[in-house]
Amino acid sequence: MTNVISDSELRLPETPLDIFHIWISDAKISEPSDPDAACLATVDANGYPNARVVLIRKIDDRGFCFFTNTESQKGHELATTERAAINFHWKSLKRQVRIRGDIERVSDIESDIYYTSRPLGNRIGAWASMQSQPLENRQILIDRVAEMEKKWGETPPRPAHWGGYRLVPHSIEFWQEEEHRLHRRIRYDRNHTGVWTWSILYP
Ligand SMILES: Cc1cc2nc3c(=O)[nH]c(=O)nc-3n(C[C@H](O)[C@H](O)[C@H](O)COP(=O)(O)O)c2cc1C
Repeated sequence: MTNVISDSELRLPETPLDIFHIWISDAKISEPSDPDAACLATVDANGYPNARVVLIRKIDDRGFCFFTNTESQKGHELATTERAAINFHWKSLKRQVRIRGDIERVSDIESDIYYTSRPLGNRIGAWASMQSQPLENRQILIDRVAEMEKKWGETPPRPAHWGGYRLVPHSIEFWQEEEHRLHRRIRYDRNHTGVWTWSILYP
């Protein structure tokens, strides 16, 4: 395991993405399922936080991308505030990454590419599920799945209500468990010119 932040804080990479890519690679080896799962926090119109797990399916130079129903509760909250946080916790590695930033929609082409890469059942499910809406009984959902299978066959197009978001980070904190709760914490902050600086935090 590459313990990036253990001994060489003064020689940290210029960008936190360099550390993140190493940590997610470690997680892909160590975690039994969904190493790319992260808790996504949003805030509703009344200021109440709301958190749920999503899969962070794409990480690029601009940020962290996830895909969902844009008319879901999270979809409405993201549209209202355009801000979010995500939190990765890899238990077996005793590591946490906290990311905060602004939200933008990924391009239609990126959403299409990801939608098409999903198994057929998931693509049909995206049509059938009115995510976050009340469901009177499960049979209604099963019937909707059958209806959408009949309608779209093997090549459903991406629904207009389904797509990706990108969290563009302005702060990324790496946390590594150490003995006696004297954990390592390093937070990178990005200034308005896009330059990252880092600081070490008390545990
Ligand atoms: C491991 C895991 C991965 C998940 N991945 C996604 C995902 O990528 N997209 C998604 O919309 N929901 C995903 N969910 C379901 C969400 O946690 C949540 O129930 C759903 O998106 C509705 O949230 P909302 O009502 O706040 O919009 C996942 C749940 C778990 C436990």
